[in-house]
Amino acid sequence: MLELFTHIYRWLDVRLGLSPDKGEQKSTLLPHNINAWYSLGSVLLVIFALQIVTGLLLMIYYVPDADKAFDTVSFIMEGIPLGRLVRLFHAVGSSMMITVLLLHLLSVLFMGGYKSPRELHWLSGFTLLLLAMGISLTGYLLPWNQLSYWATTIATDCAGSVPVFGNYLVTLLRGGTQVGPQTIGRFYMFHVGLLPASIAVMICIHLFLVKCTGVSTPPFGLDDTRNQWGRGEDDAPAQLPEGKPFFPNFLLQDLVSISLYVACLIALVFFAPNLFIPSSSYLPANPLVTPAHIKPEWFFLANYQTLKLFPSEIIGLSVQVIAVIFLALLPFMDRGREKHPLKRQLFTFSSIAGIVLWIGLTVWGHYS
Ligand code: HEM
Repeated sequence: MLELFTHIYRWLDVRLGLSPDKGEQKSTLLPHNINAWYSLGSVLLVIFALQIVTGLLLMIYYVPDADKAFDTVSFIMEGIPLGRLVRLFHAVGSSMMITVLLLHLLSVLFMGGYKSPRELHWLSGFTLLLLAMGISLTGYLLPWNQLSYWATTIATDCAGSVPVFGNYLVTLLRGGTQVGPQTIGRFYMFHVGLLPASIAVMICIHLFLVKCTGVSTPPFGLDDTRNQWGRGEDDAPAQLPEGKPFFPNFLLQDLVSISLYVACLIALVFFAPNLFIPSSSYLPANPLVTPAHIKPEWFFLANYQTLKLFPSEIIGLSVQVIAVIFLALLPFMDRGREKHPLKRQLFTFSSIAGIVLWIGLTVWGHYS
């Protein structure tokens, strides 16, 4: 028993620097060969802050009531100075947040940033991705238009395929058998209360973990691309990173990436907002009229298409649950020390195949 505790303590010690001597060894320097992909975490922090600010502004006028929600959103768009801009920044920003989250995930995936001793960074990040998808899903219903009403109907329908508890889950999510006035109240509570608070706490945990280990050394521009820090004897740090300070060296890179992101967001809001807000979102929700093509948000299209592909929904759901668990536990399965994507060809090939499959299912879901 004591041996087990010692093992757990050692494991955590390497990742959190519990013992004082390890704490002193911690370095705040960034690797010499750090690249622009490492600034996506800072971009995500800015995105989250922007979503909070625009969301708070929308809350001044928005009323979470099925009879008033659509009108209050129309009033924000048409009757409030800068209201349209704030709403579009919030709606387009939500899709952009998922896009940048996926890019951050891919960068740590291909550069091996998830490898020991950063398993907990990956797990906390993965939880953040799921929470962000949840906050987008719950926010989508709030304008109470045709698109949001029917997209929420099909999204909550999926919960019905869970064996035994399916119907109970659907009723719990909707507050009744159909998406209706009760649904908007509970989705509002999740969207403005529980989920933002959980994301804020999870971001603090994620950043605390990054601070404990420092960022990983990218595998590019090095002769030896094996894990530079961690997996030494007893899983202890094998080699401390040396490098450059964050200020002013990398702060400049962070500011460049943040400005690029803001430029993209402004371009989309001004020139292509309809990419995210199609015409059916200008009609109020009507539970009696089912639109010809109902689709969930773009990042759920692959899941939606997968459910349609299998003869029974429970098989489609199980395949997806297994895929999510596999991805979440990847750092505990991929224990190799090599980080360079070209030197771990099987991993790189399977990852690219997975990405192509996901994009294919998304496009298929969009056009089907
Ligand atoms: C709101 C969401 C998130 C925020 C604000 C955030 C923020 C950050 C920051 C600031 C860093 C340090 C610098 C960097 O590598 O970019 C970082 C590192 C990391 N993040 Fe995230 N992250 C988020 C979501 C995610 C997700 C979805 C994943 C993956 C599932 C993830 C996995 C990691 C890992 C493994 C590292 C360590 C990378 C390394 O040291 O090379 N994060 N994150």
